[in-house]
Amino acid sequence: MSRFNSAGKIEEDLPKARFSKENLKDAFFIFSFVKPYRTKFIIGLFFLAITSGLSLLFPTILGDLINIAVHAKPSKYFGSSLKTVFTVLGILIFTTSLLALFRIKWFAEVGEKSVADIRIKLYEKIITLPVDFFYQNRVGELISRISNDLSQIQDTISTIFSNVIRQTIILIGGVTYVLLMFPDLALWFLSVVPLIIAFAFYFGKKIKTNARNTQDALAQTSIVLEESLQGISSVKSFTNETFEIARYTKGLKGVVSLAIRNAGFRGAFAGTVMFLMFGAITLVLWVGLTKVQQGLMEIGTLNKFVFFSMFIAGSLAGFAENYTQLQKSIGATQRVKEILKETSEVILKDALNSEKPVFETSLRFNNVSFVYPSRPEQTIINHLTLTIEKGKQIAIVGPSGMGKSTIASMLLKFYEPFEGALELDGKNIKDIDTTAYRQLFAFVPQEILLFGGSIKENIAYGKPGATDEDIILAAKTANAHEFISGFSEGYETLVGDRGVKLSGGQRQRIALARAVLKNPEILILDEATSSLDSKSEQLVQDALEKLLINRTSIVIAHRLSTIKNADLIVVLDNGNIAEKGTHQELMAIKDGIYKNYYTIQAMEKREDLD
Ligand SMILES: Nc1ncnc2c1ncn2[C@@H]1O[C@H](COP(=O)(O)OP(=O)(O)O)[C@@H](O)[C@H]1O
Ligand SMILES: [Mg+2]
Repeated sequence: MSRFNSAGKIEEDLPKARFSKENLKDAFFIFSFVKPYRTKFIIGLFFLAITSGLSLLFPTILGDLINIAVHAKPSKYFGSSLKTVFTVLGILIFTTSLLALFRIKWFAEVGEKSVADIRIKLYEKIITLPVDFFYQNRVGELISRISNDLSQIQDTISTIFSNVIRQTIILIGGVTYVLLMFPDLALWFLSVVPLIIAFAFYFGKKIKTNARNTQDALAQTSIVLEESLQGISSVKSFTNETFEIARYTKGLKGVVSLAIRNAGFRGAFAGTVMFLMFGAITLVLWVGLTKVQQGLMEIGTLNKFVFFSMFIAGSLAGFAENYTQLQKSIGATQRVKEILKETSEVILKDALNSEKPVFETSLRFNNVSFVYPSRPEQTIINHLTLTIEKGKQIAIVGPSGMGKSTIASMLLKFYEPFEGALELDGKNIKDIDTTAYRQLFAFVPQEILLFGGSIKENIAYGKPGATDEDIILAAKTANAHEFISGFSEGYETLVGDRGVKLSGGQRQRIALARAVLKNPEILILDEATSSLDSKSEQLVQDALEKLLINRTSIVIAHRLSTIKNADLIVVLDNGNIAEKGTHQELMAIKDGIYKNYYTIQAMEKREDLD
C-alpha cells in the first residue's frame, strides 16, 4: 500500500518526470480518458495543425507585401497586386481565427468532460478503498489530488498539449524555412539558441525546486488554518489566538520570501532570454540591413526573416514554459494512477445487486489474532475465540486501548484477521461479498459524525428512501422525537458542520434512530452512552432497551451499569478474554476484574449523587 505523508514528500518520492517510456505510458493513460470524446479531439488536432501551418505563411506574405510596395517586386505565388495579396492575407486571417475558435472550444470541452470522468473514477476508487487506506493517507492529501492534480491534467488536455503541438510545428517549420532561405542570417540568429536552452535548464531546475518548496510552505500554512479553525474552541479556551496568528504569519512569511526568491530566478531568466533574443535580432538586423544597403537584399525579404525570427523566438519561450507544465502534469498523472492501482474492497457493480445474506445461528471469532498493518509490532487481539449467538446481547468491556473498537471494526470487515477467521454461520466472512455482509449490520460508532444536511436526511441515511412516517417512528424509538420536535424547524432543522449544533446526547440519539431505521440483523454499539450525562444516558439507555429486544447485538461499554442485563459479558484484557459470563456470574468471581471494576464505578456513581 502506498503512503503519502505530505505534499512535499510525494513529489520527492516520484521519479523525475522526463520523456521516458514510462512517461509516455502516463501520457497515454490520460488520453485513455479522452477516448470517448476523440472525434472532437482529433478534429481539433487537425485544425491545430492547419492553423499552425497557416500561421507560418504570415511572415512570408507580410514580406511580400513590403517588397511589392517598396521594390515593386512581385510575390512568388500571389502576383504583383497589393489588393490580391491583401485578399489572400484577409482569407488567411479569417480562416485561422475561425478554426481557432472551434479548436479552443472543443479542446476545452474534451478537457472538461474527460477530467470529470477521471474525477468520478478517482472518487469511486477512493470511496471503495478499505478503511485502513484512510488511516495511512491524509484526507487533505486525497482531496488535493482530486482537485489540484486533476486541474493540472485538465489544463494539459485543454491547452498545454495543443500549445506544445503548435509551438513544435512553428519551431520545426520556421527553423527549416529560415535555414533554407536565409542560411547565413539564420545561423547568426540561431547561434543564441543553445545558450538560451542552457540557461533554460539552469534556471528551470532552480525554479522547479523553488516552486515545490513554495508549494510545501503553502501547504503548511493551510494546515495551520485547517487545524486552528477546526479546533476553534480549544484555540479560544486557551486564548491562543495570538499564538495561532503568529504561527500563520510565520508560515506565510516563509511562503512570501520563497516566492520572491523564485520571482528573482524567473526575472533573471526572462531578462537573460530577452537580452539574448533582442541582441541576436539586433545583430541580424545589422548584418541584414548592411546587405540591404549594399543592394544585396530587398527590405521585404529582410522583414520576412525578422518576422520569422520573432515567431521562432516566441515559440521557443512558450515551449520552455509548457514543457515544465507538461512535466508537472505527468507528475500529477502518476499520483492519480497510484491511487487507481489500489485494490477496492467493494466492487460497485456487484454491490448494486448484492443481497443480504441470511444469518441463522452465530457469528464467531475463531482463534483470531490481529495487528494493525501500520503498527505490526503491537498485537491487539491475541487468539480470540468468541461466539455471538443469534438474538443474544453480548457486551464487551475493558479499559480503553484494549481493542474493543478494533473488535467492532473486524466484525464490520474493516480489517481482516491476521490469523484465524470470523465466521458467519460457520462460513468465513472473507468469502462473503463485503457489501452484502455489511447489510446485516448497523453500527453506532464511538465518535458520531452527522452530515451537514437536515436531521431528517441524517436519520434517513440508515435507509435511503425511507418514508417520513418511518423516520419519525425511528426517532421515537430512539427517544429523539421529543427534542427534534422542540426545534422550530423540527425534522428539517439543519445540522451544522459536523453536527456541532447538537449536544452529544442528541447526536447519539440521532445515530441510534439511523440504526433503528435500518432495522439490522446485528447491531453494534461502541460506547454509545460513554459521553453522556445521567439524564441523557437514561434516555439513550431506554432507547437502547427497545432497540435490543430480539436482536443480536454487540454492545461495547465503558459504564458497566448499562450492560448489566446482557446475555454474555466479555472482559477483555491484553487482547484476549479475561472473564466471561453474566453479570451475576462475574460478580461471583472473587477478586475478579469485572467485580472490582463494577464496585469502583458503583462507588463513583454514589459519590456523584451525593
Ligand atoms: N488505525 C489504527 N492503527 C494503528 N493502531 C491503532 C489503530 N486504531 C487503534 N489502534 C491501537 O489499537 C489499540 C486498541 O484500540 P481500540 O480498539 O480503539 O481500543 P478501545 O476501543 O478498547 O479503547 C490501541 O492501542 C490503539 O492505539
Ligand atoms: Mg474504543
